Amino acid sequence: MDDFDGRVAVITGGASGIGLGLASKLADEGMKIVLADIETDALEKAAEMLRSKGSEVIGVQCDVSDRSQVEALAITAYEHFGNVHFLANNAGVVSRHKAWESPEDWDWVIGIDLMGVIYGVQSFVPRMLASGEPGHVINTASTAGLLAFPGIASYNVSKRGVVALSETLHHEFKKTALSVSVLCPGMVDTNIGTSERNREGIDFQPDPDQFVVRDGKENLTPDEVAEIVIDEIRQGIFWILPHKHYGEQALEQAKRRISGDGPVMPHIDR
Ligand SMILES: NC(=O)c1ccc[n+]([C@@H]2O[C@H](COP(=O)([O-])OP(=O)(O)OC[C@H]3O[C@@H](n4cnc5c(N)ncnc54)[C@H](O)[C@@H]3O)[C@@H](O)[C@H]2O)c1
Repeated sequence: MDDFDGRVAVITGGASGIGLGLASKLADEGMKIVLADIETDALEKAAEMLRSKGSEVIGVQCDVSDRSQVEALAITAYEHFGNVHFLANNAGVVSRHKAWESPEDWDWVIGIDLMGVIYGVQSFVPRMLASGEPGHVINTASTAGLLAFPGIASYNVSKRGVVALSETLHHEFKKTALSVSVLCPGMVDTNIGTSERNREGIDFQPDPDQFVVRDGKENLTPDEVAEIVIDEIRQGIFWILPHKHYGEQALEQAKRRISGDGPVMPHIDR
């Protein structure tokens, strides 16, 4: 997809971070925007910010871990704009726990980071195919979709699933008007370290030892990531890796599948 002007984009997790950066750049490209998020106040503020730049935007409150809410999002988007050409399955959260701990964390993370993306594909792709118009799906995975980081097992498993789903779509979109990319960033300065702010039944206290290190050496801003995404979608790139060293690391890990050696610890450039 290389022509965004006048077309319609749906972005989940669009009220903050990478989703908001992407929505803002797509709006600059002339797209009409459906911004979806669970966090109502942030969603209203983000939609207002985009409208103040002259963009046509609707904000839709949606919990992507609820299949019926994602279906309702699709119905709203099509009722309002008549079509959807670009879907960013981007909403995501992270939780720190050992692999054998915290069943409730597993449910929460997999519900949003993996099932949320699957629901997005199931509700939007049939409609996008039926329109016959060119369209694009981008799924936000992570470097954790390529390499397993200790302490965030539910996130690694979800993101590996998003990579697998995206690869499958790549094959299944052959001979259709749709294309797909998978976004695998390293560190980006966003609010993901305070993911639990949106978690029901949690008395959220910001964690000074949060997972995402802001201002790290390799950190990018959401705007920088969004620019890379749009540029690489224009070039037809499937694997969007804003931090290339993770691609190199993934390649080295893959060679160990042949030698039979266990994985080495992934390296973050702090
Ligand atoms: N920040 C990083 O370093 C980094 C690196 C790799 C991948 N990612 C991925 O980028 C994506 C965006 O995260 P971010 O870093 O911009 O974080 P963020 O917290 O700034 O933004 C995530 C957005 O998702 C929304 N959200 C959370 N739960 C939701 C739900 N159930 N339904 C709908 N919306 C929900 C939040 O309200 C928020 O607006 C995530 O999938 C994340 O895993 C982030």
